[in-house]
Amino acid sequence: EKGNHRHFMEKEIHEQPEMIGRTVSHYVDAFENRVHDISGLDFRGASRLVIVGCGTAAYAGEIARYWFGSLARLAVEVEIASEFRYRDPVFLPGDIALFISQSGETADTLEAMRLAAAAGVQTLALVNTAHSTIAREASLVVPTLAGPEIGVASTKAFTCQLSALACLAVLAGRHRGHLDRAQEAGHVASLLAAPGLMVRAIESEDEIEKLAQGIAGYPTVLYLGRNQYFPLALEAALKLKEISYIHAEGYAAGELKHGPIALIEEGMPVIVIAPHDALFDKTRSSIQQVASRGAHVIALTDPDGASALAGEAARIVTLPSGSQLTSVLLFASAVQLLAYHVAVYKGTDVDQPRNLAKSVTVE
Ligand code: M6R
Repeated sequence: EKGNHRHFMEKEIHEQPEMIGRTVSHYVDAFENRVHDISGLDFRGASRLVIVGCGTAAYAGEIARYWFGSLARLAVEVEIASEFRYRDPVFLPGDIALFISQSGETADTLEAMRLAAAAGVQTLALVNTAHSTIAREASLVVPTLAGPEIGVASTKAFTCQLSALACLAVLAGRHRGHLDRAQEAGHVASLLAAPGLMVRAIESEDEIEKLAQGIAGYPTVLYLGRNQYFPLALEAALKLKEISYIHAEGYAAGELKHGPIALIEEGMPVIVIAPHDALFDKTRSSIQQVASRGAHVIALTDPDGASALAGEAARIVTLPSGSQLTSVLLFASAVQLLAYHVAVYKGTDVDQPRNLAKSVTVE
C-alpha cells in the first residue's frame, strides 16, 4: 500500500533510511563496530571480483568498485550481464563473481551467473528477493533487506545494494589486511549513521521539488560526477530517462573536454554531484566550464562545498556530509527525488513508465 504517498516510488524513496538501516544491521555488529564474517566467503585469496548486473544493479556494482579498490586493494571488473554472457568472458583462478539483482529473476543476469558457475567460479548473489531463481542457484546469497519494491524505477533496492556492498568492501578490507581495527570501526560507525543522515538529506525534498520545473521543459540534461559519483551520475540519468522521458546523460566530469562540452548551450541543465572531497576543486572547475558556456548548473553538494560554490553555481542543494561510504547514499536520494519531481511535474505514469517492466525475465 502507498499509505499517504502519491506513488510507490515516493514511498520507496522515503523508506530508504529504514531499509538501509536494516540492511547494514544484517551485516554488522553494532556493539563492536565490526562487519560479521560470512560463512563461505573469504576475500583473502581472491585475485579479482567480477560484478555483473543490469541497469541500476550494474551501477551499484560500478560504485562499489571504487570501495573494493581503495579499502581492500581488490581488483574489480563490472559488466552489464547482456554483454558479459555473450563475449566468452575470461575467468582467472581466484575469481569471485557477484551477481546483483533486485528481483533475482533478470534473464541476462541469471544466464551470466550460470556461465560463471559452469566455469567453476564461486557465485555470490546480492538479491532483494530471497526466493528467486538467482538466489536459489547461487553458491552464496548476500541479501538486501529493502522489502518489496513496486515502483519500476529502482530506488530503495539500489541504496540497499550499496549499503550491503559497502559492508562487503569493509569485510574484504579486513580479510586482505588493508583495514586495521580502528579503520574498520570507523567505516562501520559511518554506515550505522547513514540512516539518520539520509533522513536529513530527504528533508531537502521541497527545495529539490522547486528545481523540477526548470528541468522539465528542457529536452536534455547532463549529469556530472567524479570518482564513485561518476556511476551515480549514470544512475541519476537513467532515473530521469525512465520516469520523465527526458533524454539524460551521465558523464565523468573529467571527460567534459573530450566531447560532451560541445553539447552545452544557453539554459541546458547540468546537474553536478560535488561533495567537498579530495577531488572537489576539479569538479568545481567543471562547474565553471559549463557555467561560462551558459549551462543552468545545479550543484548537489555538502555544507563545505556549498560555501565554496557560493556565487558559482546557479542552484545549490546542500545535503549533510557523509563518509567515503555513505555520502553516495545521500546523493542517491537527492537525484531520485529530482527525477521523481520532474516526472510528477510532467504528469507521467511514475510507477509504471511506458515500455518498461519491473522484472526483465526475457532478453
Ligand atoms: O531486478 P534487477 O535488479 O535484476 O533489475 C535490473 C534492471 O532491470 C533494473 O535495475 C532497471 O534498470 C530499473 N528499472 C532501474 O530503475
